[in-house]
Amino acid sequence: MIQLKDIVKIYPMGKRELKVLQGINLTIDKGEMVAIMGPSGSGKSTLLNMIGLLDRPTSGSYILDGREVSKLNSGELSGVRAQKIGFIFQSFNLIPYLSALSNVELGQKYASKVDSRAAKEALAVVGLTDRMNHRPTELSGGEQQRVAVARALAKNPPIILADEPTGNLDSHSSKDIMSILTSLHKEQNITLVMITHDPNIAHYCQRIVHIEDGLIVQEETK
Ligand SMILES: Nc1ncnc2c1ncn2[C@@H]1O[C@H](COP(=O)(O)OP(=O)(O)OP(=O)(O)O)[C@@H](O)[C@H]1O
Ligand SMILES: [Mg+2]
Repeated sequence: MIQLKDIVKIYPMGKRELKVLQGINLTIDKGEMVAIMGPSGSGKSTLLNMIGLLDRPTSGSYILDGREVSKLNSGELSGVRAQKIGFIFQSFNLIPYLSALSNVELGQKYASKVDSRAAKEALAVVGLTDRMNHRPTELSGGEQQRVAVARALAKNPPIILADEPTGNLDSHSSKDIMSILTSLHKEQNITLVMITHDPNIAHYCQRIVHIEDGLIVQEETK
């Protein structure tokens, strides 16, 4: 379970301060599928990076599965992150000179869970068994994002965080990615938190959280 209490993030900008998150209170239960929406610059990625332990709040409390993680040092943070969090980014973030399979295995390496069979299984889940030895340049955008999903999946994390996972994809590939993520969430009870600008994509989620200027302004639950 993810519990954020009064999360504030301030970036020092010379003499001024930029208060990007202004007191976020959000609880996400295990197995929920949540969309975060809001205007550009409203703090969505900052919030997701915080949830994913890529960043620490300036103040506030973050309890992840019963443990206060907001004050861990960076070594401890990467340990928790490696065990619990799979990330999917808008720009795929694949290593260009490695095959699809090696990219997936690299994701496992950070979590010390290298397991070639699990990596191949993850590529099978996203329908890329026959593209396993292709490099990113030899894959379509939709296929590259499926590799990124497989990479997040292959270490078997309880939580997957996705920052505009369909932002660079056409509507057909977007639907593919969303149906893969939806079935993962349903079959493996993975907690899924994703940012999107697209209401059609957000509606795959049971819960939509709207953010403006670093604050939650509205929540919808289906
Ligand atoms: N490292 C940083 N230092 C200073 N300001 C930052 C930093 N990272 C982000 N910001 C600022 O924080 C605000 C929120 O950024 P964030 O990336 O969270 O927005 P977003 O809601 O994800 O926007 P988008 O939809 O465009 O991706 C922006 O105004 C941005 O300029
Ligand atoms: Mg963003």
